[in-house]
Amino acid sequence: MEKALSGVRVLDMTHVQAGPSCTQLMAWLGADVIKLEPPTGDITRTQLRDVPGVDSLYFTMLNSNKRSITVNMKNADGKEVFTRLVKSCDVLLENFGPGVLNRLGFPWEKLHEINPRLIYASIKGFGDSGPYANFKAYEVIAQAMGGSMSTTGWWDGPPTVTGSQIGDSGTGVHALAAILAALYQRTHTGKGQYVVAAMQDAILNLCRVKIRDHQRLSHGALKEYPTDTRGLDYVPRSGNATGGGQPGTAIKCKPGGPNDYLYVVVQPQVWPDLCKLIGREDLVTDAAFATPEARVTHLQDVWNVLEFYSKDYTKWEMMDKLNEIDVPCGPVLSTKEIVENEHLTLKGMIQDVPHPTRGSYKTVGCPLVLSDSPVEIKPSPLLGEHTDEILQELGFSKEEAGKFHENGAV
Ligand SMILES: CC(C)(COP(=O)(O)OP(=O)(O)OC[C@H]1O[C@@H](n2cnc3c(N)ncnc32)[C@H](O)[C@@H]1OP(=O)(O)O)[C@@H](O)C(=O)NCCC(=O)NCCS
Repeated sequence: MEKALSGVRVLDMTHVQAGPSCTQLMAWLGADVIKLEPPTGDITRTQLRDVPGVDSLYFTMLNSNKRSITVNMKNADGKEVFTRLVKSCDVLLENFGPGVLNRLGFPWEKLHEINPRLIYASIKGFGDSGPYANFKAYEVIAQAMGGSMSTTGWWDGPPTVTGSQIGDSGTGVHALAAILAALYQRTHTGKGQYVVAAMQDAILNLCRVKIRDHQRLSHGALKEYPTDTRGLDYVPRSGNATGGGQPGTAIKCKPGGPNDYLYVVVQPQVWPDLCKLIGREDLVTDAAFATPEARVTHLQDVWNVLEFYSKDYTKWEMMDKLNEIDVPCGPVLSTKEIVENEHLTLKGMIQDVPHPTRGSYKTVGCPLVLSDSPVEIKPSPLLGEHTDEILQELGFSKEEAGKFHENGAV
């Protein structure tokens, strides 16, 4: 069956997470993704290994549906193999440290000359210009410098990293959007272009609402924040507050374990039914609780009233009760609850993938759902599994391929 990206060929020179997360999405959408690895392989094949001697989950969960070729880019024949690959591909994505491909002899101008239709995409910590352009970066560095850490956690505690890999996989999704736009533009212009996605920019984009609040500060306190913001010239950490226009928090439920919480958002229209459910109809008319404007001035009292009720029910019971009266809410799910979750499993967001050397493992499915381009998750490739197949496709003879193996080019 034709897929959304059938016919698109991607030269995937990515490693660790930010790049591979992007090319994995492209492979799931039907692109032929050729992962070009140094002869030692992507470092994540061996990082955080749980089973000795086989590719780690770090690698398998970010590189499915791809083919693998090993090429030594510091070898003259390796450069020749790379050049043919560039000629045959629509997209090249890399997330090396700054200047790596230039040092290997392939700046954007050269790549454009080799294949004028090529879309050359780079993921970098801080983009390709400005004072930080030459700095390497990892997820947490981008979270620190993109506004996430200073606004995450409790106001009286240290800045906190979020568990979501917004700097890595979040940037991967931003890069995907840019690459797809460049592919679309190429249908009109016939030309490739240079695309850059910076991890700091991606995080800042996701922290947009915090910059909104920063500017609101000059016009008065942020009433929906759980701490006093009067006189501050920066946005403080706001614990579990929603960050949006409707107040919410995580309330404790039975039996009180580390993840026995339900996140509740109290929209104005649900307040009367919510009060009725918890047996506090008096609060529907009580001037201190009756309106959103009144409640926002003492939200902790609202949460205390809800918790007094929720402590006798599990988060699942609370979810059912609140959904019955149309209150937006969600139980805080542990990783165990997520991998065993019926809803996620039914939709394929958690699924088992067979692997030739490590056996079956669980992976997170594709969050992009297209009715005419269903995703079938296949295992990640073994290191160099498709080297000879790809060399043949590129028109190299058996003798040439043999020579490349002998001299360490592949
Ligand atoms: C992640 C990061 C910090 C890792 O740094 P690193 O381990 O020093 O790796 P680099 O990407 O800087 O360098 C890779 C080296 O391998 C070499 N290499 C890569 N592929 C090769 C190949 N196929 N053949 C031969 N050499 C190869 C490069 O030439 C480079 O060597 P050099 O330093 O002599 O030029 C860095 O790649 C980075 O900042 N990337 C951009 C942001 C990013 O994606 N961060 C990670 C998010 S998960």
